[in-house]
Amino acid sequence: MKEFIVALDGPAGSGKSTIAKRIAKQYHFTYVDTGAMYRMITWFFLENNVSWKEEIACQKALEQVHLDMKNERFFVNGQDVSEAIRGPRVSSYVSEIAALKVVRNQLVHLQRKIAKGKEVILDGRDIGTVVFPKANLKIFLLASAEERAKRRFLEYEEKGETISYEEVLKSIQERDYIDSTRKESPLRKAEDAIEIDSSTMTIEEVVAEVSKEIESKR
Ligand code: CDP
Ligand code: CDP
Repeated sequence: MKEFIVALDGPAGSGKSTIAKRIAKQYHFTYVDTGAMYRMITWFFLENNVSWKEEIACQKALEQVHLDMKNERFFVNGQDVSEAIRGPRVSSYVSEIAALKVVRNQLVHLQRKIAKGKEVILDGRDIGTVVFPKANLKIFLLASAEERAKRRFLEYEEKGETISYEEVLKSIQERDYIDSTRKESPLRKAEDAIEIDSSTMTIEEVVAEVSKEIESKR
């Protein structure tokens, strides 16, 4: 198997994981959800009251975390946290924790190790700019904040979470702001990334567009 790396970056709710899963299935690629990794670390820090603003405490905590991903389920030190990491509590802290250099160093190292030598699609914020700057294909997926909040709100509603559309929009806008203005690996489009604005596109249309790009590069 020849290494083939697809980097899929973009803001919250732009459709990255939905598209990445479809592409992975269609081409038998490995899918790496890097956002879930930042969410797992956040869950662990919250659960263990880690004082993450102190670098030493943060480093110590990171030494105690073991992350596992199997069949679309996520485990922290053996505990299945797949549902917990998607809730509003983790969502409201994840960007703050993902901005920490020690956290990023550890996760970027792990992401490179997982993907090396494989046919793989990774979704996140810094895949095309930092994790794999030489990826075979880079996609930057966009959608308006209102559309992204609508999509997320519908997901929360389905799960029975009591949160209003306005709260979801505010949380998304806050995350966009922190993610794109942070010092370490901010969210931005790599110069050689292909931009797709999915605001008015269906999932199938986005998948078709990404597939076309993959086929032209392979
Ligand atoms: O699914 P959603 O777009 O809401 O977020 P996610 O992909 O699960 O990522 C959660 C958070 O992790 C983001 O808001 C970023 O703060 C952080 N993240 C990051 O900094 N770098 C990545 N490669 C992936 C996620
Ligand atoms: O991973 P990310 O946060 O970028 O987004 P996602 O979790 O894949 O997508 C958020 C929601 O938007 C999901 O419920 C998707 O089904 C939906 N979606 C959509 O309605 N239209 C698209 N073109 C892409 C995603």
